[in-house]
Amino acid sequence: MRIDPSVYGEGLADIYDLIYPETPEAGMAAAFVRDRTPEGGSVLEFGVGTGRIALPMADLGLRVHGVDASQRMLDVLMEKAGDREITSALGDFTTVDCGGVHDTVLIAINTLFMVPSQEQQIACFENARRHLKDEGRLVIEVYEPTRFHSLPTGMDTMVQHLDRESLLLCSIQVDKVNQIAALGQAYLRSGELRKTPEISRYAWPAELDLMARVAGMRLVERYEDWLGSAFEHRSHRHISVYEPVTV
Ligand SMILES: C[S@@+](CC[C@H](N)C(=O)[O-])C[C@H]1O[C@@H](n2cnc3c(N)ncnc32)[C@H](O)[C@@H]1O
Repeated sequence: MRIDPSVYGEGLADIYDLIYPETPEAGMAAAFVRDRTPEGGSVLEFGVGTGRIALPMADLGLRVHGVDASQRMLDVLMEKAGDREITSALGDFTTVDCGGVHDTVLIAINTLFMVPSQEQQIACFENARRHLKDEGRLVIEVYEPTRFHSLPTGMDTMVQHLDRESLLLCSIQVDKVNQIAALGQAYLRSGELRKTPEISRYAWPAELDLMARVAGMRLVERYEDWLGSAFEHRSHRHISVYEPVTV
């Protein structure tokens, strides 16, 4: 399945920061990455978006390069970046060549699952490895899919009130066979209805670990949050850290 990776960002760039408003979470994510990156080191973020984590990472002294498929998302990012050490490039992170290696590659908040097939997700791991130093780390944050996968009717809806005048309605339809949740985001405000489709091709932790092995990496850490709480059977997401296998 081929899907234009720019659709999500082009459709939501102007309201993305309302959907994901500033919370302590982004600072915790930035600190987590900083603790696994040499002082003043470089981080490549795949799907950097409007810089929710990139900005706090730069504020912690990291050099950040962000790749995104959406120019509108990158425009918001670069406007917010000011004189921080952040650079960006338009591209598909499953194939893009940023020309160089980094200390850390970050793929946050379910962005890996926006890649619609196992084959392309492996390509994403391989591309992360290509951009990593041998002693570098790949940090991935994704949801644990059991809850989605077990929806009794395979469908669900969610409502998020964004501000006093607007809301986001999200419909979810799960295709268990292909491990795909088809999401329909409807943004509503007075006089406006905007719909943005999104595909989430989910995978369980063991499948991700195998993809990493295919790409020449192995799991070294896994937690349920950025503070390092244990990942266990009730956890709804995980933060996984992979290192290159060099022998
Ligand atoms: C859920 S947002 C996450 C943004 C940011 N990392 C954050 O933590 O808020 C996912 C981002 O990934 C981008 N994206 C999705 N698929 C992509 C791909 N194949 N290549 C590059 N960017 C992609 C989208 O445009 C969007 O900006």
